[in-house]
Amino acid sequence: MEQIYLSNKQDWARIIPFPEMKANLPARRRRAACAPYRWHDASGAARRRRAACAPYRWHDASGAARMVECREVYKYYHTPAGDFPALQGINLNINKGEFIAVVGKSGAGKTTLVNVISGIDQPSSGEISINQTPIHKLSESQKSRWRCKNLGMVFQFFQLIPSLNLLENLTIAMDFCNCCSPTEQKERAFSLLRQVGLAEHAYKTPAKISGGQQQRVAIARALANDPPVLIADEPTGNLDWRTAGEIYDLFASLVEQGKTLLVVSHDKEITSRASRSVEIADGVIVS
Ligand SMILES: Nc1ncnc2c1ncn2[C@@H]1O[C@H](COP(=O)(O)OP(=O)(O)O)[C@@H](O)[C@H]1O
Ligand SMILES: [Mg+2]
Repeated sequence: MEQIYLSNKQDWARIIPFPEMKANLPARRRRAACAPYRWHDASGAARRRRAACAPYRWHDASGAARMVECREVYKYYHTPAGDFPALQGINLNINKGEFIAVVGKSGAGKTTLVNVISGIDQPSSGEISINQTPIHKLSESQKSRWRCKNLGMVFQFFQLIPSLNLLENLTIAMDFCNCCSPTEQKERAFSLLRQVGLAEHAYKTPAKISGGQQQRVAIARALANDPPVLIADEPTGNLDWRTAGEIYDLFASLVEQGKTLLVVSHDKEITSRASRSVEIADGVIVS
């Protein structure tokens, strides 16, 4: 394939009339179309690469915008007994506004999948893009900054900071992201606590509220910086079925508001609440 090297504005102009730019191409063709372009200088390369690829939107065959794309993702853990394959060629696409459940037994690879998708852990091989950002290519510090604005995480054991009250648990997440002034942070935190029905508990510490309420605070914290994607790992694993139902209701309302949601769980009940479900076993998506 011919390589086109771009080093000045004239070269740059050569790709503008590139015919595929007019079409909404599937991701595979978009990447193929962008592949011939290489950049000489380091400065501004990423910006120009993004600009070159910008006209290509991530769409699936139905035209829905692609929010998460995992291609041939493998993850090996190095153990004294040898490399253990926790993920073995995962292909998973999630469209904007979808509520996807990944279910599987304990040890199936669900947490590993969440960790590589969120950039908490690095895949051994494969590609992961979220909202058009190839996160497997980012450095650790780039990933932290990216995660702050783009991804909300919810965990089985809530991970709230016990010494802070609920309001502070939310504002600290905004602080990490350098989001808004202290007054705006407080207003936003109150509004999120109101959204999850806990505004009257704002000044209590997590120990003073129930497990289900703590999980709702954790969901509010995941929304603190208004990310487009939420990922939850066994969010109801520590809750009774009635409280779990309330958490699923809350997730459903967030999807209605336009969020994209990935929930991994051993609890098959989630499949009746999600818009689509897949099953994982031994690091492979089996259905
Ligand atoms: N850090 C690790 N080192 C070695 N093996 C691991 C590590 N983390 C997970 N595993 C193994 O990888 C497999 C998948 O684990 P995990 O993703 O936690 O599964 P799940 O969340 O579905 O229960 C399991 O067999 C587990 O023992
Ligand atoms: Mg797990």
